[in-house]
Amino acid sequence: MALYSEKVMEHFRNPRNVGVIEDADGVGEVGNAKCGDIMKMYLKIDGDTVTDVKFETFGCGSAIASSSMATELIKGKPVADAMKLTNKAVAEALDGLPAYKMHCSVLAEEAIQSALADYYAKHPEKKPAT
Ligand code: FES
Repeated sequence: MALYSEKVMEHFRNPRNVGVIEDADGVGEVGNAKCGDIMKMYLKIDGDTVTDVKFETFGCGSAIASSSMATELIKGKPVADAMKLTNKAVAEALDGLPAYKMHCSVLAEEAIQSALADYYAKHPEKKPAT
């Protein structure tokens, strides 16, 4: 069996939503101390919807594929859905990642969480009651 699914390879070769949003409403940057890979997410939020999302990933192929898939999963979706996006959902949408590469998908979840935290820090009135 191939190590990586076709979907992983496809998102690695043609990552979606790469880049920077200059006037982003939320920006999050996370890194994995062990491998040194870094992921940055930019969110544009209008009302309760993630209207745009872009990423920059300095990392392995699985991290790039995970970021790409994660952006596709939250773009145009309610912010509440983005809050709930897990690395498992990202990996499943990619038709799986090798076990030792699951941490790469964790970066995508954390980067989105970090960008949302930045957004709520700037717009505390938007924060859902917990
Ligand atoms: Fe570092 Fe994949 S090896 S994120």
